[in-house]
Amino acid sequence: MTQLVHTPEELASTLPAGDVSLVPTMGALHDGHLALVRAAKALGNPVVVSIFVNPLQFAPGEDLDAYPRTLPEDVAKLEAEGVDAVFAPTAETMYPRGPRTTIHPGPLGSVLEGATRPTHFAGVLTVVAKLFALTRATDAFFGEKDYQQLALIRQMVDDLHLPVRIHGCPIVRDTDGLALSSRNRYLSAEERATALALPRALATGSLAEAGSLLRGTDGLELDYLVATAEDLTELPDGHSGPARLLVAAKVGTTRLLDNAAIEL
Ligand code: PAF
Repeated sequence: MTQLVHTPEELASTLPAGDVSLVPTMGALHDGHLALVRAAKALGNPVVVSIFVNPLQFAPGEDLDAYPRTLPEDVAKLEAEGVDAVFAPTAETMYPRGPRTTIHPGPLGSVLEGATRPTHFAGVLTVVAKLFALTRATDAFFGEKDYQQLALIRQMVDDLHLPVRIHGCPIVRDTDGLALSSRNRYLSAEERATALALPRALATGSLAEAGSLLRGTDGLELDYLVATAEDLTELPDGHSGPARLLVAAKVGTTRLLDNAAIEL
């Protein structure tokens, strides 16, 4: 039986002693989230899923109000997966005195996504650190689709000596190749067809080829396309071996992210 709790006090009385696995989400759950839940279940600890649309990681003018909120459907999906507890707090519960103390992501937080969304990662890291504390998580699961987010969470855990093991899970794609995202539901059928340029570009495995494919796609506004080392540091000149290709683009009003491991 899945317990649905809304406050830190209710959560504390639900949490068992010992190791706990946390899957932090903003809800509107899709198969990508459920893959994280299954990875968490496979570890064997009790599993807590948080569902919280975190206002701190949205800038004014972004889609905070429009972000899909589907709590009853989400809880039913998590119940079917055998999740032990769902923590769904309100913004007032999470930030009773406003954000006040926040976590600065450092230089990695101001490149790529951070260049376009300068306050985003401070919001993400702050809420993730709070969720770690509230759930007393020993293990936490994040998708590789938000690759920079995952890198920054690993960095925070390392830099702040947080007693949590971070598990990165592979991207889950729809049958047409589009990486699953709660924001895909914003896309019209035509926009979705355009958005498929992202996985197609990554599948070329080449920065140059991906660039010409994306720049030649009508209706797609490329924000960045880069090849980096797997830890997001710059590739040395003449690098050969594993690398990461990361892309962000807007299709209509929807911002989409994708990435893939490549071999240079
Ligand atoms: O990836 C997300 O859904 C969010 O950024 C997270 C990690 C749940 C923090 O709000």
